[in-house]
Amino acid sequence: MNTVEKRVWTGSLACFILAAGTGFFFRGIQFLGIPAEFPWPHGAIPLDMGHIRHAHTHVMYFGWVTPVVMLLMLPDPSRYRGLLTTLLVLALLAWAPFLLLGYKPLSIVLSTSTMLTWYVFGIRYMWDRRRGSIPLDGRCVRHLFDASLALLVVASTGAWGLGLTMAMGMDHSLAYDLSLHVFLDLFAEGWLMLAILAAMLRSARRAVPRRAFWMLVAGIPTLFLLGVVPERLPWEMRLVGSAGALMTAAGLLLVLLEVRGRLGQVWRLPVALMYVNAGVHAGLAIPAVASWGMAMGLRIPWLHLVLLGIVTTGLVAAVHDHFGSRYTRGWPMLQASIVLVLASLFLLTGLWPGSLVGEWTGPLVAGIALLPMAAMVRMFTAT
Ligand code: HEM
Repeated sequence: MNTVEKRVWTGSLACFILAAGTGFFFRGIQFLGIPAEFPWPHGAIPLDMGHIRHAHTHVMYFGWVTPVVMLLMLPDPSRYRGLLTTLLVLALLAWAPFLLLGYKPLSIVLSTSTMLTWYVFGIRYMWDRRRGSIPLDGRCVRHLFDASLALLVVASTGAWGLGLTMAMGMDHSLAYDLSLHVFLDLFAEGWLMLAILAAMLRSARRAVPRRAFWMLVAGIPTLFLLGVVPERLPWEMRLVGSAGALMTAAGLLLVLLEVRGRLGQVWRLPVALMYVNAGVHAGLAIPAVASWGMAMGLRIPWLHLVLLGIVTTGLVAAVHDHFGSRYTRGWPMLQASIVLVLASLFLLTGLWPGSLVGEWTGPLVAGIALLPMAAMVRMFTAT
């Protein structure tokens, strides 16, 4: 890593630590009796749980995963130094306004500035692609990075839609729900997942199977239709979402078969969870299964299976292979802590028998939530 790459990587690790600490704070308030307030010299400021959740997701999305994906997709990130630094600074600046005030003018200005920075990044990237300073590689992994960036732009339209529906007082409308899922689902399954697949194929030195590429590119943009409660959606739209989920599952499996036996140990966990994710997509194609999953409270565990189990461990694996193992010291500890967090989330769902829930359940989940942060502090200090 050169100085710029190292600065972006450590900045993103710092964002993970802050966001993970915020997630632990949420659990601490829920289960450990930590007061929901922000210490201040002139008296503690009371906090809203929704605002804490927002601060957590904002810094995870905008400060942790996004700059690292950009770092991995650029042959020479030094030329994008200003943009990458701006993204990190904006993510960190937005934490306190989101935590204290929620989605109010200051946080709106900061998140809008972040999205505009993405667009500037996208324009510059396209310009460099056309000029040939970001060249095509022999295995067409570059096309997956291109598609991933295109889906970031599509996902961002969901954020604009959210702002618009909220401004119009339509917070409980189908348009609001669809905008939310365009943003959340296309960001996670499009921008992030395609970039991880590209980095994984690069590590395995394999080409993108052509059929898999088209299945993923056609299937992923429809996945937001499955995020909405099936009963709220016209059946034709639901059908498109189901077909997209099946295509995504098949595309994922084809890529996984392509890299089989060609990746190092650091990829074991993200790859295993990608198989699970392909299975979940196939299940979500059936409305009854999707409704059952929502009724069981599986949304948060599944979201974290993707964002923590696949994306976070996948990014660390990609940095490990692309930049060297000295930047990802302690990755086995991180992966172990993430497995524990994912397992602990099932204790809060309808899958865990009610008769086995005790006073210990909540505090255990909260205690385990601290572990990934501790593991990342180790990676940060060792980098
Ligand atoms: C370090 C481990 C993590 C912990 C302890 C953690 C904790 C939490 C908690 C407590 C919630 C709120 C759950 C609820 O509403 O009941 C949450 C929600 C969420 N987290 Fe995390 N999280 C972690 C990692 C991540 C990562 C890596 C990402 C993204 C890259 C992420 C993105 C989200 C999202 C999108 C939500 C849901 C927001 C919504 O309800 O719409 N989390 N997390």
